[in-house]
Amino acid sequence: MPDTYDLIVIGSGPGGYVCAIRAAQLGLKTAVVEKRPTFGGTCLNVGCIPSKALLHTSEMFEQAAHGFADFGIKVKPELDLEAMLAHKDKTVKANVDGVAYLFKKNKIDTFEGVGRIVQAGEVEVRPEKGEATRLSTKAIVIATGSESAPLPGVEVDEKKIVSSTGALKLGKVPEKLVVVGAGIIGLELGSVWRRLGAKVTVVEFLDRILPGMDGEVAKQAQRLFKKQGIDFRLGTKVTGVETEKKGLRVSVEPVKGGDAEKLDADIVLVAIGRRPYTAGLGLEEAGVALDERGRVATAKDYKTNVEGIYAIGDAIAGPMLAHKAEDEGTAVAEILAGQKGHVNYEVIPSVVYTEPEIAVVGRSEEDLKEAGIAYRSGKFPFSANGRARAMNATDGFVKVLADEKTDQVLGVHIVGRGAGEMIHEAAVLMEFSGAAEDLARTCHAHPTMSEAVREAAMAAWFKPIHI
Ligand code: FAD
Ligand code: NAI
Repeated sequence: MPDTYDLIVIGSGPGGYVCAIRAAQLGLKTAVVEKRPTFGGTCLNVGCIPSKALLHTSEMFEQAAHGFADFGIKVKPELDLEAMLAHKDKTVKANVDGVAYLFKKNKIDTFEGVGRIVQAGEVEVRPEKGEATRLSTKAIVIATGSESAPLPGVEVDEKKIVSSTGALKLGKVPEKLVVVGAGIIGLELGSVWRRLGAKVTVVEFLDRILPGMDGEVAKQAQRLFKKQGIDFRLGTKVTGVETEKKGLRVSVEPVKGGDAEKLDADIVLVAIGRRPYTAGLGLEEAGVALDERGRVATAKDYKTNVEGIYAIGDAIAGPMLAHKAEDEGTAVAEILAGQKGHVNYEVIPSVVYTEPEIAVVGRSEEDLKEAGIAYRSGKFPFSANGRARAMNATDGFVKVLADEKTDQVLGVHIVGRGAGEMIHEAAVLMEFSGAAEDLARTCHAHPTMSEAVREAAMAAWFKPIHI
């Protein structure tokens, strides 16, 4: 039987949909299999997009309630949670519809149902109702993403004990929210509900927040979140959650020993990480190997151990970020089309969309020390930036880390309003192996927050002007 497709992508998240579009643009006959009724995966449906809608609107509410008065604007905001959630849902719909439009535009066939790899070159699609279909193809890309990791002994019901999915659609503002995990989800969604009025306690196993990020950045961020009213219980583990008539009782105890305690909550958000999702894919039968952490094992060019089967995104190793998945999708499509697709893993920015935002690209100080790389650090605080003062956005700083000998920028870390936008000038610089001096000598418009990035580069290379 001749192959019906050049490529079948299983999963339509940022990895899968970008892969399918690039493959179709490069002339491959492409199909996508998605089990959800809408395209866009975790990111568009229950991840990046709805969380950013709520982060924006809840921040507007907080600004109106507590920020405007200092600017001479007197308002008393009233929360209409239903309308706020409706804005989030409208944003999601526009984005998932956008992907459907792009699939049509690029003549990509779509199949709704669970995709199972029968063998290399053959995919079965099982819709919720009706008969399964079998499709033949030259190549298969697994882009099935991830799901939230369970906390043993604590059952998520998405009503009272929620994962991020339930936390994006609470019908009312909880009085007391206990968040398990001080990672990105815990801090972003904890911030949303705190701004809307919840008393938020974040319980974290480790003795720091945001593991993996630069230690100085995490410390500063924790100080700012604490000032905003988030209570942190670090070095603490949750041992159980009991449901009582009045609400939930969360049992916690210090990791290093000590007295156990119970925290009251009306909602508990479990945000202790995500794990690859490969259920129903038939990987074992198809002989596709997983690594020690349950991720699809890939070698060079995103190849699995089975010829003709590739994997990308959250389902494989690496940071679980939408743009990492997208870039891998583009790279594998280009490879399948005979080009030299490539992802530069040294330059993948990461942004925590709290207020202030936290944005990083490249190495942390801890990374550099561990690797024995001599570096210079240049720092500049937003409190010395004119635009930040005008906007009452003086919290945070920029830190540029440059190689001691060559001056090449190895890492940039920003805590500050709009850090998620500012980080990209550092990413472009690093993509071209630029030096701190290059950034320091690049004219920056005045007055902008980005001038702080330039000043931090000046500090790493020679001396800043404004401190
Ligand atoms: P996914 O987006 O998970 O997509 C996989 C798709 O495959 C899903 O639609 C699933 O239904 C489908 N699927 C799975 N198995 C099958 C099957 N057998 N057959 C058919 N279909 C199947 N990242 C960022 O970079 N920035 C952010 O701001 C951000 N915010 C986030 C907020 C939250 C609350 C969460 C949970 C995540 C967030 N992320 C963010 C992470 C981001 O969502 C993921 O990194 C990204 O979605 C991974 O893309 P992917 O294509 O690998 O998988
Ligand atoms: P995470 O890995 O960022 O953080 C999980 C936290 O939970 C860690 O600090 C960990 O030490 C802690 N933890 C683990 N087990 C615990 C336990 N039993 N008790 C208490 N704490 C425990 O995971 P998170 O926040 O769930 O997010 C998952 C992934 O989704 C992230 O890694 C990120 O890649 C992605 N994401 C990205 C966003 C962005 O880019 N803005 C936003 C949201 C998610």
